[in-house]
Amino acid sequence: MTPKQHITQVKAFFGYYPGLVAVVTVDTGTERNAMAAGWNTALSFVPPLYGVSIAPSRHTHDLILAAGAFGVNFLPLEHARLIAAVGGTSGRDIDKFADFDIATEPSLRANVPILADAYVSYECVLRDHHTYGDHTLFAGEIVAMHVAEGVFAEGVLQPDLLQPALHLGKDRYMRTEKVAVEVLPRGAESFR
Ligand SMILES: Cc1cc2nc3c(=O)[nH]c(=O)nc-3n(C[C@H](O)[C@H](O)[C@H](O)COP(=O)(O)O)c2cc1C
Repeated sequence: MTPKQHITQVKAFFGYYPGLVAVVTVDTGTERNAMAAGWNTALSFVPPLYGVSIAPSRHTHDLILAAGAFGVNFLPLEHARLIAAVGGTSGRDIDKFADFDIATEPSLRANVPILADAYVSYECVLRDHHTYGDHTLFAGEIVAMHVAEGVFAEGVLQPDLLQPALHLGKDRYMRTEKVAVEVLPRGAESFR
């Protein structure tokens, strides 16, 4: 490890990337929108809850409150430009689905846009939301999911079959490599 900097006046913190950027989608019945959200996380297995942290200034923020549901879509690396496009424009100004030619598939249980190019998508019904500082954490119950066949083996992504859009920060993405070594100790199953 190189020598460390020790920072006590923390302004713009960093270090949580690389991570997957989700495309969060919403449909109020009269308006659809999509935005990039790097701040996304699993919250609970039972019930299955997923969280996205969205600034109140985003158009998507109030659309989710109005719709009471949101979609979480993970795209392959080859679609990183689309992630940047929906993350660099606002639904206040344009119809992103029309302008970026975003193909969708029918949802099953919640009225949320499911991206045809996503390798995994969650349909989430809004269960709770709380504003922390300058972002609101939306907690959604996953009521349906859509998974590309063969991409996961026992829930583990097969990186030689699909490159996820692993974000490094700013406008940079990275490739993943096949895991060469089993790193989990025996009994790690109990983590679940
Ligand atoms: C890679 C990437 C990740 C982003 N992650 C988030 C995020 O987690 N939360 C957030 O509020 N905005 C995030 N943004 C910014 C929004 O996607 C951006 O402000 C977008 O224009 C909002 O669109 P809207 O106004 O149509 O909702 C991200 C942008 C990019 C490019």
